[in-house]
Amino acid sequence: MTIVHLRRARTSLVLDARGPGLPRVVHWGADLGPLPAGDLPALVAATVPPVVPSSFDAPTVLSLLPEASAGWSGRPGLAGHRDGRDWSTAFRLDTLDVDDPRGGGGEAARVSERERDHGGAGAARVTVRAADPGAGLSLTVEITLSAAGLLTVRHRLRNDGDRPYEVRELTPVLPVPAVATELLDLTGRWCRERAPQRHPWPMGAWVREGRHGRTGHDATLLLVAGTPGFGFGHGETWAVHTAWSGDHVTVAERRPTGEATLGGGELLTPGEVLLGPGEEYATPLLYAVHSADGLDGLSDVLHTHLRARPEHPRGPRPVTLNVWEAVYFDHDLDRLKGLADRAAEVGVERFVLDDGWFRGRRHDRAGLGDWWVDDDVWPDGLQPLIDHVRRHGMQFGLWVEPEMVNPDSDLFRAHPDWVLQAPGRLPPEWRHQQVLDLAHPDAYAHLLDRLDAVLREHDGIAYLKWDHNRDLTEAGHAGRPGVHTQTVAVYRLLDELRARHPGLEIESCSSGGARVDLEILRRTDRVWASDCNDALERLSIQRWTGLLLPPELIGTHIGPERSHTTHRVHDLGFRAVTALFGHHGIEWDISGISATERIELAAWVALHKRLRPLLHGGRVVRVDHPDPAVQAHGVVAHDSSHAVYAVSRLATSAAQVPGPVRLPGLDPTRRYLVRPPAGMPEPALLELAPPGWLASDGGVTLSGSVLGSVGLQLPALHPEQALLLEVTAAD
Ligand code: DGJ
Repeated sequence: MTIVHLRRARTSLVLDARGPGLPRVVHWGADLGPLPAGDLPALVAATVPPVVPSSFDAPTVLSLLPEASAGWSGRPGLAGHRDGRDWSTAFRLDTLDVDDPRGGGGEAARVSERERDHGGAGAARVTVRAADPGAGLSLTVEITLSAAGLLTVRHRLRNDGDRPYEVRELTPVLPVPAVATELLDLTGRWCRERAPQRHPWPMGAWVREGRHGRTGHDATLLLVAGTPGFGFGHGETWAVHTAWSGDHVTVAERRPTGEATLGGGELLTPGEVLLGPGEEYATPLLYAVHSADGLDGLSDVLHTHLRARPEHPRGPRPVTLNVWEAVYFDHDLDRLKGLADRAAEVGVERFVLDDGWFRGRRHDRAGLGDWWVDDDVWPDGLQPLIDHVRRHGMQFGLWVEPEMVNPDSDLFRAHPDWVLQAPGRLPPEWRHQQVLDLAHPDAYAHLLDRLDAVLREHDGIAYLKWDHNRDLTEAGHAGRPGVHTQTVAVYRLLDELRARHPGLEIESCSSGGARVDLEILRRTDRVWASDCNDALERLSIQRWTGLLLPPELIGTHIGPERSHTTHRVHDLGFRAVTALFGHHGIEWDISGISATERIELAAWVALHKRLRPLLHGGRVVRVDHPDPAVQAHGVVAHDSSHAVYAVSRLATSAAQVPGPVRLPGLDPTRRYLVRPPAGMPEPALLELAPPGWLASDGGVTLSGSVLGSVGLQLPALHPEQALLLEVTAAD
């Protein structure tokens, strides 16, 4: 047993695994450099707290699983029992495997394929095995530190006893140093996902629970702790993400005894996880990320890690037209063909037929579950539309909502027992629908067959928009709580379908952005961030979704002039600049737009395609601007040769001129030409004369250091207008 020091990118993790109890995380944060072996015991000793009055007689240190037996009086890492016994544990370390191919400390050992599952190429991995024979339990802790510096922790608990053991809670936690005194997390609702909330970190627990049976509109994609006043570009920050698409909890806890932790796991209902002899429960992966450079630094690690995954979507992300807001349930082959013609004209590369194509689905009150093409509306099936779309060189995508069923459907009439429910009563309806019990083997097999058949029976379905439009409520399976088994079954369904249809891409949609998490994203290719296509709302939704996800995983569409969900009216330029920074698309009936609008739309789509390699590969930066009415962000190429920034005016400002906007992320030693992309329409301005540097078409050439530290005075944008700036290295 040893003290382990793992280092990747700009992060270090030091584990004191000398036993006899569970290892303790001595340091998770900034890279400590190549510490000499002799320094590690000194580092451990330097971080052990003193013994103070009215406390245990030996110092209390927090292990990978906080236990009362080690003197922990905060939230327990494990809560459970066996018939009211074995309710407290004292795990003893059995083995420690360290696989750290590039070195950094610790012993090298082989790890199993399962343990290699996470972290990706170049990761360091630690596997801790511990047991409490008295309680009849053993615990495995799997830790990875990816090449990008992203840490993951997963606990596996096995019942070694001969009677069932109930797991009530098993939550990995990580310590955060006392310098982190502020918290930031996200909440939200339908059409207003990812609203940030920020406050001092008080004593006690800040507990973010999601009991929706899905990830939830209000899920905090990250829970961030940081030094006072941390921002996008400054401050030291630590953050966690609970990667689970069912009920889950993410917690920040600060104790009067001095410890502070971040953690996250699954929220279990009483009776939900009952381990039989020899059975094991695995927690969701807890992702943990540290940055010395504010929130952008967190995103940098996360985006780099996600982009390195083998399952990360490759190839240019096709510009998408989704027909939902264009036609809703009003499906008509000729009308949709016309829409496809217009889509092809403006440069669309993927055409997605949304809700309404299957049996009985003329409105949202019927049809879910009956995954056969509706003969009344589609007498010749979907193939004529698919062929039409593909003749234009576009991919075809189709909407499904597999987990759901309308009581008014043939499926429900035949199998009312295939619905998640508490014994003797159905959950209250939500959008007139119930949830199929995917842990029911027949329901699962039926659904897999039907989805498989829809894909096989059509030539050319390249993409599924996979929706999920209600919470799971009183979601019982065979009389027991069923959210856990449902979540696992959905993952399996997606995995099996993808294995049967290699190359199929899937979008995770859930009434907009209610299923955005890193576990669903291991088997899907992008998320639908929100049903709100209002550019003003989208600016915030996309900015905060982008804290976790790189732009290519976030669906961002140009909506109609008047937003369907807010009734606001916006110019095409504002809508297009906002939708440029993601997996770009259109969600708008463009069949009736004027020739002028069509030409402008085509120009924006062409611009996106030109900038796409930068937008989908570069480093995301956001500007800390003092004026809350100004929002600016950008993407900078990794070789710092090229960047694009958008400056948006959200409202009028108190000051007539809101102050220069700094352009972060450029190489301070290089010179750059800054100007709006040539040939694009200008935003509406309230000014008598533009700033001098913008007056000529030539733009301005300045060093990265000036642009990052002084910034540029920008034109006086009207509210709800955006200016795009392209930055190219001039040397
Ligand atoms: C909710 C989704 O978020 C929308 O984009 C659309 O697909 C509808 N469901 C269809 O019912």
